[in-house]
Amino acid sequence: MITQSSDLKVLITEEQIQKRIASLANEINDYYNGEEIVLLCVLKGAVMFAVDLAKHLTMPVKMEFIKLSSYGNGTTSSGQVQSFGTHLEEINGKNVLIVEDIIDTGLTAEFLINYIKEKYTPKTLNFCSLLNKKETRKNSVEPDFYGFEIENKFVVGYGLDDMGYKRNLPFIGYKEV
Ligand code: IMP
Ligand code: MG
Repeated sequence: MITQSSDLKVLITEEQIQKRIASLANEINDYYNGEEIVLLCVLKGAVMFAVDLAKHLTMPVKMEFIKLSSYGNGTTSSGQVQSFGTHLEEINGKNVLIVEDIIDTGLTAEFLINYIKEKYTPKTLNFCSLLNKKETRKNSVEPDFYGFEIENKFVVGYGLDDMGYKRNLPFIGYKEV
């Protein structure tokens, strides 16, 4: 049987997540100063975060979604990313804020930023990640906005999965090894 949360230690509580998202949204509101933005949510991991963040934004907001897949053993990034043929013409000429669950090696973020710049013509392009694992970065990509810096642990919950499971947990946890 797959246990949903009994084998997890809590790293960030639901309350801490929600409080930080509200203050992060204020930073984003200040930065864009009322200008319209498009939140480009990276499926599937950033869904919870993008939805909760969006509720606190005060400028006109559109939401778009992109799906990437990386191939690896599940807990480490292989650096190979594919995007599925999403038509994102909606983002041309707009202030685009990519919303991700986590930056680890930074390879996914780098791929995505280059992909968007090659295929589309956003007015501005920024990157917002709920979690930031700085120790494991393999490039110089840094998020413009992020919620929490975390150490190098494999985390699950609040959108982040373990083999597809546990995305629905309202907190962020990790397996004690
Ligand atoms: P990166 O390309 O190494 O920066 O990894 C980014 C992607 O790897 C994220 O979008 C996640 O899907 C996944 N990932 C990295 N670390 C974790 C983790 O601790 N838990 C769950 N997924 C992770
Ligand atoms: Mg992801």
